[in-house]
Amino acid sequence: MKIKPRYGHFNWMAPFYDRMLGRMHHTALIEHLQMTPGQWILDIGGGTGRVAQHLAAMPVHVIVADASPNMLDGSRRKGLSAVRSLAEQLPFASDSIDRITVVDAFHHFADQPLAAAEMVRVLRPGGRLIIEEPDLRRRMVKGIALAEKLVLMQSHFYSPPDLARLFEAQGAHHLKTITDRISALVVLSKVVPTHPPSELL
Ligand SMILES: C[S@@+](CC[C@H](N)C(=O)[O-])C[C@H]1O[C@@H](n2cnc3c(N)ncnc32)[C@H](O)[C@@H]1O
Repeated sequence: MKIKPRYGHFNWMAPFYDRMLGRMHHTALIEHLQMTPGQWILDIGGGTGRVAQHLAAMPVHVIVADASPNMLDGSRRKGLSAVRSLAEQLPFASDSIDRITVVDAFHHFADQPLAAAEMVRVLRPGGRLIIEEPDLRRRMVKGIALAEKLVLMQSHFYSPPDLARLFEAQGAHHLKTITDRISALVVLSKVVPTHPPSELL
């Protein structure tokens, strides 16, 4: 299937991106990921590695996946493993990844149901997935959504309950949503099958 990705803005923003956003802490994200040593962590739409660099401070294997080559250059400069790929077509085997993060990127994906299906596919059963997005229920975020429309970014924001429903429809289980002043972290896990696949019976 042909996906029309929307990362053009990020290609030219890449050299300034980290400076524009400034330094942030990702305490809640790291706490709720519950990473253990040796795990494989995939940061999808991970861009310059702004968030992934904090995950890589743990004894885990971190991969940044992003559509924008210029954003990925930023990740490589931080010494991170970077793979150019669309969220809608992830080049990873099914059930192979222990943890997935998507920070401030899901609203940019061109085909969000397909991206959600891909994330659940590559996540191992019982693995965790955290989507951090601006919380559309906040007035300020409604303003951000409008501004992104005006600069033709074609973003599409889901509210946290709609995000949870979208992923549940793909075989994830909604564990909790943590909110702060602007963002919501939707914490999910991939459902563990209780019966062997029918082809094994
Ligand atoms: C706002 S940036 C967030 C980057 C990073 N997660 C952070 O918080 O610093 C959004 C990222 O999503 C990427 N992106 C947009 N559409 C994508 C797609 N379909 N597949 C993969 N990455 C995509 C962009 O290239 C960009 O790097």
